[in-house]
Amino acid sequence: MITPHGGTLINRVAEGKNRTQCLEKAEHYYSVKLDSWSLSDLVLISIGAFSPLNGFMKQKDYLQVLKDMRLSSGEIWSLPITLSVSQEIKDKLSIGQVISLKGEDGVIYGILEVEEIYEYSKKAEALFVYKTTDPSHPGVKKVYEKKDYYVAGPVTLLNKPESIFNKDFQTPQQLKQTFQSLGWKTIVAFQTRNPIHRAHEYLQKTALENVDGLLIHPLVGNTKADDIPAEIRMKSYKVLMENYYPRSRVVLSVFPAAMRYAGPREAVFHSIVRKNFGCTHFIVGRDHAGVGDYYGTYDAQTIFDQFQKEELGIEILKFEHAFFCIKCNSMATSKTCPHNNDFHIHLSGTKVRNMLKNGQVPPKEFSRPEVIEVLVTEMEDKDL
Ligand code: ADX
Repeated sequence: MITPHGGTLINRVAEGKNRTQCLEKAEHYYSVKLDSWSLSDLVLISIGAFSPLNGFMKQKDYLQVLKDMRLSSGEIWSLPITLSVSQEIKDKLSIGQVISLKGEDGVIYGILEVEEIYEYSKKAEALFVYKTTDPSHPGVKKVYEKKDYYVAGPVTLLNKPESIFNKDFQTPQQLKQTFQSLGWKTIVAFQTRNPIHRAHEYLQKTALENVDGLLIHPLVGNTKADDIPAEIRMKSYKVLMENYYPRSRVVLSVFPAAMRYAGPREAVFHSIVRKNFGCTHFIVGRDHAGVGDYYGTYDAQTIFDQFQKEELGIEILKFEHAFFCIKCNSMATSKTCPHNNDFHIHLSGTKVRNMLKNGQVPPKEFSRPEVIEVLVTEMEDKDL
C-alpha cells in the first residue's frame, strides 16, 4: 500500500470517552470561530489528508513553505495551511493555552493547543503562493481578507461537521480500505472543480488503460462564486458514471478542501494530498488549478521537475491540452492528431459554464448529453 506523505497517516480525531472528556473541557475554553474554509482545513488535517501536518502551521514551516516549498522537516509542501485571527483575539491568547474551534453554527468542532502566534506579510504570501498581488485573483483576494495574525499548533477534531461527513465522502482511511477491497494496487486520482466534460473523460480513460482504478475526487469545498455549485456537479458526475464508465473500475468520492486557484503550487498540493488518500497516480492536465491568465498552460506540470520522484511518492500523469477533432472524429491532443486548429473544438470548464449561463447547449463533442441535461435542469431549478 502507498505510504502517506511523511511516512505516517495522521489521526487527530478524538473518539469515545476521550472525545466526551475533551468536549466537556472545550465548553470552558476561549473559542475562536472558523469560517467554512478553515473548518475544512481542520477536518482535513485531523483525518490525515494533510499528513504530515498535525495542526495549523508554525512560522518556521510557513516561511519555508513559501520560500522553498518544503516543511522545516524537509518534506515537500507547497501551500500554507494556517489559521488567521484578529489583533483583538490575539491579545486574548497565550502560548500553551488550549482554545476551542467553533463553526459558524456555534458548534465546537475541535480544539487547538496554541504553540505560536505570529504576524505575516499578506503581500509576500500572495507573491510566493499565487505569483501575483493582484486582488482580483480569487486566492489573493482571500489572503487579503484574512486577519493579521496566524495562530499555530496541533488540532484535535471533536465533532464531525455534517456538511463534510456526508454519504459521498470517504476519509483517507476509508478510501484505502475501499481500494483494498476492490483489489486495486494502482489508483489514479482526478481532481476537478467543474462538471466533467469530454476532455476530462479522455484524460481519465487514457490513464485508466494503465492502472487498476480511477478515483474521481471532485473538490467540493469553497470555490469562487461563478463556479458550478458542488451539489449540481455531483449529480452530473453520477449520471456520467452510470452511462459511460465501467462501474467496477471507478470510485467517486468528494474532496472537501477549499479551492485556492494557486495553479502550479496547488497542483503539487493536490497530488500530495491524493497520495494521502491512497492513490498512486495523479492527473495534471492543462492549466491545473489555474484561473484567468495568471499561469502558463503547462506551469503546473513543469513545477514537478524540481522534485525527485521518490520524495513526491505519487506518479504524475501529465496531459497535453485535449480537444475534439472533427476530422479524426475523436478526442485527441497535438501528440495524437495531425490536423490543424480549424478542425479542433477546444474544451474548458469555463466555456461550458459560460454557454450554460447564456442559455446555450454545449455540443456533444464538448460534453455528454446526459451531463448537459442535468446541468441545464439543475441550474434552471436553482435559477443560476
Ligand atoms: S481544476 O481547477 O480542478 O484543475 P478543472 O476541473 O477544469 O480545473 O480540471 C481538472 C483537471 O483536468 C486538471 O488536471 C486540468 O489540468 C485538466 N484539464 C481540464 N481541461 C483540460 C483540457 N481541455 N485538456 C487537458 N487537460 C484538461
